[in-house]
Amino acid sequence: MNQQLFEKVDQYISNLVAPEDEILKQTIESLDHASMPQISVTATQGKFLQLMLLTCKAKRVLELGTLGAYSTIWMARAIPADGKIITVEFDPHHAQVASENIAKAGLSDKIDLRIGKAMDVLNELIAKGEEAFDFIFIDADKPPYAEYFELALQLSHPGTMIICDNVIREGKVIDENTTDERVKGVQRFNQLLADHPKVTATIMQTVGAKEYDGMAIAVVN
Ligand SMILES: C[S@@+](CC[C@H](N)C(=O)[O-])C[C@H]1O[C@@H](n2cnc3c(N)ncnc32)[C@H](O)[C@@H]1O
Repeated sequence: MNQQLFEKVDQYISNLVAPEDEILKQTIESLDHASMPQISVTATQGKFLQLMLLTCKAKRVLELGTLGAYSTIWMARAIPADGKIITVEFDPHHAQVASENIAKAGLSDKIDLRIGKAMDVLNELIAKGEEAFDFIFIDADKPPYAEYFELALQLSHPGTMIICDNVIREGKVIDENTTDERVKGVQRFNQLLADHPKVTATIMQTVGAKEYDGMAIAVVN
């Protein structure tokens, strides 16, 4: 793999079609200042999420895994003024930084940040009869991806797009003897996706500024 080349080309694409403004740059910087991991989506992936939201005319979005709200800000900019994103983060420190970034971006009206475990918040939303989401981005802890996906389906409607990040894990996903719980989690999820009668789906490999990985993309039938 030529990671250096992937990074340079990612920068080239970002400069062309996904430039970061000051808010997005500051959001990435805020992670270093707060000693948080640099595991946000890349700018080109943020733009990709925007395009997917526009494709399904998304007004209601659910995100699992906020970190510093970098992906959340990209997505919030692609929904209409009366649109809503519920984003879920279980780490209070991450949520505090995300909340500050969302406020600086002037997006507090559109983004509802819920502090809690993704599983608990999903079950709460289902129990309360939350209106279905048009787009769901799953980017939290990997072992329960299959369970998150099944619960997300209960919050979807025909046409809802569900994107799940990090499902290739530097190719480790083809190792049948892996003992890594994150890899096992995405293996279980990828098989569920392949067999699921309720969705039409594929998996795309991704290279770029971040490690070699992939995204699963599903549309609810
Ligand atoms: C990959 S980061 C999210 C990156 C973010 N979507 C972005 O691209 O800017 C994953 C986040 O999920 C959070 N997380 C991990 N397990 C979680 C859980 N069970 N419930 C909610 N959030 C969780 C982590 O604290 C971390 O902030």
